[in-house]
Amino acid sequence: MPDHAGSGAFAARLIRWQERHGRHDLPWQRTRDAYRVWLSEIMLQQTQVATVIPYYRRFLQRFPDVAALAAAPVDAVLEAWAGLGYYARARNLHRCAQTIAAEHAGRFPRDPARLAGLPGIGRSTAAAIGVFAFGIRAAILDGNVKRVLARHFGVEGFPGSAPVERNLWRLAESLLPSTRIETYTQGLMDLGATVCARAHPSCADCPLRADCVARRDGRQAELPAARPARARLEREMRVLALTDGRRVLLERRPPLGIWGGLLALPELIGEDAGEFARRRGFRLLRTRELPPLRHAFSHFRLTLRPCLCRIDGIARRLGEPGWEWLALDEIDSAALPAPILRILRQAV
Ligand code: ADE
Repeated sequence: MPDHAGSGAFAARLIRWQERHGRHDLPWQRTRDAYRVWLSEIMLQQTQVATVIPYYRRFLQRFPDVAALAAAPVDAVLEAWAGLGYYARARNLHRCAQTIAAEHAGRFPRDPARLAGLPGIGRSTAAAIGVFAFGIRAAILDGNVKRVLARHFGVEGFPGSAPVERNLWRLAESLLPSTRIETYTQGLMDLGATVCARAHPSCADCPLRADCVARRDGRQAELPAARPARARLEREMRVLALTDGRRVLLERRPPLGIWGGLLALPELIGEDAGEFARRRGFRLLRTRELPPLRHAFSHFRLTLRPCLCRIDGIARRLGEPGWEWLALDEIDSAALPAPILRILRQAV
């Protein structure tokens, strides 16, 4: 957590930078009309500024205030939204307008905690509305701001995870200036959208570069941490290398699943190697567990547990459907799955 002087410097530098280099002419700036601020923040939740601007203007012409929006049929709202995507936003927008009309006498609450209780308004959007419409001192934390903070303060971990997000909220709140909250908040948004871009940030232009951890350590590409890949599923398969010393038994795999339709070592399901051999009429000489072998598929990892089983001749069992006997000196030229080939090369 930054000390007080540090956080003051952070905000002061950002405010000075916003005044000189930030955005000042966006159509939702220079208004304190909560309806306009709210509409812009909802549109900007998943959509870039350049795309939002023409929609924002048209939407306001059609629905100039919260009463007009609340009175409109939802289909008219969806029509005005068409092309912006994420249509749940439009439905929530309409529901929110109706709630405000019906339960708040047509006026947006000022308190971010109450704003955050309305449809489609999360904690960060509530703070942005509080800041821009009412000058309330509240912290925002959208994706761009998470990136700025994670880089600047070297916050490890995926920012979408609950504990990391909690830390980032605490950090965001600790950095708030006591005055100029609008300029500060707009500065954070502007910095995240331009200089501190996800790819190829322009660190030379950053007002915070002097004590940015990511820049100091050359870790701009690593911070914030990416969403962790979903843990891959683990599977196990016991397979049997049944051989008389000259040939090894292969079995065609079922058409669906691992190595579907290919020849592979027989899979042991619900029986051990000795039972497999005896039930099928082989004279068992000895069995030996072989070292397990790991193999990665796209969606899971497979641990193969092979068992070598030496039998005394195969004469009676040549004709089993699905079976093929492969001469041991032909292993390398057979079309076998790679891990099966590895097992056979080591084992026989
Ligand atoms: N992104 C989210 N809110 C914004 C705003 N008020 N200005 C620019 N970009 C934003």
